[in-house]
Amino acid sequence: MLRVVKNFARATAIIMPDVTILGIESSCDETGAAVVRSGQQILSNVVASQIATHQPYGGVVPELASREHLRALVPVVRQALAEAGQTYASVDAIAVTQGPGLAGALLVGISFAKALAFALDKPLIAVNHLEGHIHAVLLEQRQSEDAELHFPVLALVVSGGHTHLYLAELRENLWTYRNIGHTRDDAAGEAFDKVAKLLALGYPGGPIIDRLAPHGDPLAVKFQMAQIKRRDRRDHKQGEHKQDLAQGDGPHFDFSYSGIKTAVLRYVETENMKPAIEARRQALAGIDKPALEDVLGLCDRQTLNLVASFQRTMVNDLVTKTLTAAREYDVQTLFVSGGVAANRELRAAFERQAGMQGLPVFFPLRALSTDNAAMIAAAAFPKFLRREFVAMDFSAEAGLALR
Ligand code: KG4
Ligand code: ZN
Repeated sequence: MLRVVKNFARATAIIMPDVTILGIESSCDETGAAVVRSGQQILSNVVASQIATHQPYGGVVPELASREHLRALVPVVRQALAEAGQTYASVDAIAVTQGPGLAGALLVGISFAKALAFALDKPLIAVNHLEGHIHAVLLEQRQSEDAELHFPVLALVVSGGHTHLYLAELRENLWTYRNIGHTRDDAAGEAFDKVAKLLALGYPGGPIIDRLAPHGDPLAVKFQMAQIKRRDRRDHKQGEHKQDLAQGDGPHFDFSYSGIKTAVLRYVETENMKPAIEARRQALAGIDKPALEDVLGLCDRQTLNLVASFQRTMVNDLVTKTLTAAREYDVQTLFVSGGVAANRELRAAFERQAGMQGLPVFFPLRALSTDNAAMIAAAAFPKFLRREFVAMDFSAEAGLALR
């Protein structure tokens, strides 16, 4: 089971165990299956999106998500195996998302993965969805010129359900994580989705706002972001954080995104934008799968300015708080992952500002920013090497923490 992997960037050859893992992801509204070789090479990555199902509700409906996973999972897994040139018998292990996520949705993937592992007599690996998002970055970072990774890594996982900062270390080939910040209310992706719903722009809101924002003036509307005091567990002097890190102590950097949603609503009311929003809602309801041009054609300048200003405020807040945490903890590398990491303005701002700080920043491929199973199969590879397999009685954990 050994394979020589050429690392062209450094012109060296690394001996890698040749392990093929089938990954399954069903934590929210995407049914994913993928085959990844040795945690690095994506042989296939199939995602069945439920956007059309949840669109009329402007958000994910948990019961509908479970039903759609049930419907999609078997064909998605079959397609992933076929595209990878693999069979149920040829893969070395089955990996599945254990949590966090919607309990019912997680259970669909877990039950299927258990049945497969049992019937095929293959090892079963449980993966934390958030670790999956971090490994999506690793899939990309390994392609970089200087593929050597410097620790500690600060990882911002920013999605529809999370806005979390993790300090990551590598100890004896084991990734360990410590949460040093999270949102106190809405996740950043949730704010994008709720603002898009409020303005009748479509669903999911993040990708639409991303593409509408360049058409507006990002300085037109001023939003005040909550300045959350960082929380210190104890007073500490400059330069003590390296020690803090080892001790699991140190400051916390929290986020809050429910206020900006209310501020957008207040702006809409005071500027009397509701009739135009209602007209747009009705016009879009009459278009099957509206394209960006359709939405753009239904937005006036004031709406586009509002959208651009909202996105600029979100981006500035995420970047500023993350880079402050990076400085405080003297990290060597920054990872930004999760659905919102697909945002173009966010990527550009991180690249510019982390670059000024001399901090290397890595993102997943844009297609791997949002939920997928390749990241789950990739995150399972180190666990396979450590033989970290789960018993058949393991279950979904909707609130699973990352450590
Ligand atoms: O990681 P993900 O696929 O699912 C969760 O684990 O939540 O993230 C989905 C979230 C949604 O809120 C979606 O609106 C947001 O990521 N998103 C974006 C973009 N693409 C997806 N937000 C901003 N800009 C984008 N381009
Ligand atoms: Zn996710």
